[in-house]
Amino acid sequence: MPIFDAQIRDLSGLARQGRRRRLIGRAGSDFSSNDYLGLAGSAVLAAAVTDAIGRGVPLGSGGSRLLRGNHVEHETLEEEAARFFGSESALFFSTGYAANAALLATLPQRGDLIVHDALVHASAHEGMQLGRADHRPAAHNDPDAFADAIGAWRDAGGVGRAWIVVESLYSMDGDRAPLPALAELAARHDAFLLIDEAHATGVFGPDGRGLAAAYDGAENIITLRTCGKALGCEGALLCGPQVMRDFLINRGRAFIFSTAPSPLIAAVVRAALRLLVDEPERRTRLQALIDAAETALAPYGAVATGSQIVPIVLGDEARTMRAAERLQAAGFDVRGIRPPTVPAGTSRLRVSLTLNVGPGDVAALADALGDALS
Ligand SMILES: Cc1ncc(COP(=O)(O)O)c(C=O)c1O
Repeated sequence: MPIFDAQIRDLSGLARQGRRRRLIGRAGSDFSSNDYLGLAGSAVLAAAVTDAIGRGVPLGSGGSRLLRGNHVEHETLEEEAARFFGSESALFFSTGYAANAALLATLPQRGDLIVHDALVHASAHEGMQLGRADHRPAAHNDPDAFADAIGAWRDAGGVGRAWIVVESLYSMDGDRAPLPALAELAARHDAFLLIDEAHATGVFGPDGRGLAAAYDGAENIITLRTCGKALGCEGALLCGPQVMRDFLINRGRAFIFSTAPSPLIAAVVRAALRLLVDEPERRTRLQALIDAAETALAPYGAVATGSQIVPIVLGDEARTMRAAERLQAAGFDVRGIRPPTVPAGTSRLRVSLTLNVGPGDVAALADALGDALS
């Protein structure tokens, strides 16, 4: 019996269901990355790397932030990010996954209740499972469902704090959370509101500060700004009150027991934030691409979301994966998304728009979709 027999059986099961994943190289026009502003390979961020190396910024941090790993670049980034987003403080993590998981595993306390949107990211689930608070889902984008869950919990004797956990722009649907209603609900219940801005940061809001920009600075609001999507780098910033930062530094195991992010990357994220202000035309160009794609892809069932995430929901898993393969063979990097990433029966092509393509590529994709879906 091979020592990995359980894992081999599991992989065979996935293969039988047609769900065994494999890594494929990057090829074709970019209709799948989250590099929305085309910054990942940009000359301006490459120059920021060179400049930081010239200033002696090291690639490796060498340790945890609480030991030798803390670098002035981390702290400067956090100060600049807090100023930029309008929060009292910010804390930098190596990934958005780690930040979301650390936050939800650490801040909500035993006796609290987390009510999360049914579609929140896997990293939020990871944190909730690790943490001590109870948690339950609320119907997607339905403020009444959140209110009902908190009300039922209070009626049943819940005395802790309520936490409302949402994304401002959903990564697989491109739709937006009803933030005004949720912020009002949070205020009414003295609840916390956690807003994951992974897909809105850099793309929406004044100077690209996101869809939650209006709420930063409130004492019950925490936002997550990932740096690996529109900012073209990696890592993530948790923005919120100073006590949030202090608590994570003292109690957040994923922060304490992990090597600090690269100071070089922190320096480049600083440059990416500056660039959001200096080059607003990137957002204008992306918006024009969104408008063009909504028109060109509508005949193929594309949902107009007003965002750079354009789902074409086909429902059937096999048909979705077949269409994605055909598009890839035709030179378009479009990925099929299926359960468990999205709910059963909602398999889809997730077309994401970035400045790595232009209007001509969008028109060509529309042509190719006709064949791919036939
Ligand atoms: C909504 C959302 N939150 C968090 C994350 C995790 O961020 P990162 O990729 O930086 O780990 C992602 C990544 O896909 C995401 O889509």
